Amino acid sequence: MRRCSETLEAEMTPGEQEFLQNLVRTENFTGSHLEIGTAAGGTLCRMMSCFSDEARPRFVVVDRMTYFPNQQGIVNDNLRNHGLNPELVDFRTSTSSEAFQAASRQEDRFDFMLVDASHKIRAVMSDLKWTRLLNVGGVACFHDYCDKFPGVKLSIDRFLAQHPNYEKIGLVDSLLAIRKKSASSAAEVSFNDSAYSVLMYVPLEVDRKIKKWKTRQRKAA
Ligand SMILES: C[S@@+](CC[C@H](N)C(=O)[O-])C[C@H]1O[C@@H](n2cnc3c(N)ncnc32)[C@H](O)[C@@H]1O
Repeated sequence: MRRCSETLEAEMTPGEQEFLQNLVRTENFTGSHLEIGTAAGGTLCRMMSCFSDEARPRFVVVDRMTYFPNQQGIVNDNLRNHGLNPELVDFRTSTSSEAFQAASRQEDRFDFMLVDASHKIRAVMSDLKWTRLLNVGGVACFHDYCDKFPGVKLSIDRFLAQHPNYEKIGLVDSLLAIRKKSASSAAEVSFNDSAYSVLMYVPLEVDRKIKKWKTRQRKAA
């Protein structure tokens, strides 16, 4: 059982939560806000609470809802505890890649994105495709952008190196915020980027498993 399913808290540090809320309040976007990966909805509640009921833009949440038992029910309870109506959230219960295909087909656009789903390199590279649907001037945040999660770090560093029309606007703990300064001339994630993530997947998984095994050995000693 995940801890957050009982505490209903955000899976972010206090510094990251403060940074995110300041960003949401300062940008004060009127277009749709997207969270990919919500856990117990702790961060979702914090972002939605930045707006009054009258001024709150549309919030879209993409999640498989299999993180822990009754995840959707727990997210709904968390929202209600914060005085937020779960029916006003556009929940898309599916994988991020399936939801991206559907969102692209219906030409969804977003002013703000928080990406915090799977941290494996293939998944993160695939999540980066969502930036195609980010409006110019909009902001995307990525959680766990740090050496502990090389799948996140490598994908985003590669993305930023290839797309000068995105700029870093802040980093607190492991929460990175970037802004789309102008439209992209080509798809944000190319065939080569996807191939890179497939090639890197096995070595990163082996490395992760070795580190996990070493930690267990240390604890057992
Ligand atoms: C780290 S938690 C999210 C934490 C949350 N943003 C917070 O701050 O409290 C990851 C979430 O992503 C979801 N998830 C993982 N892989 C996914 C995928 N491929 N598609 C959709 N959701 C996914 C999990 O179900 C889980 O709810």
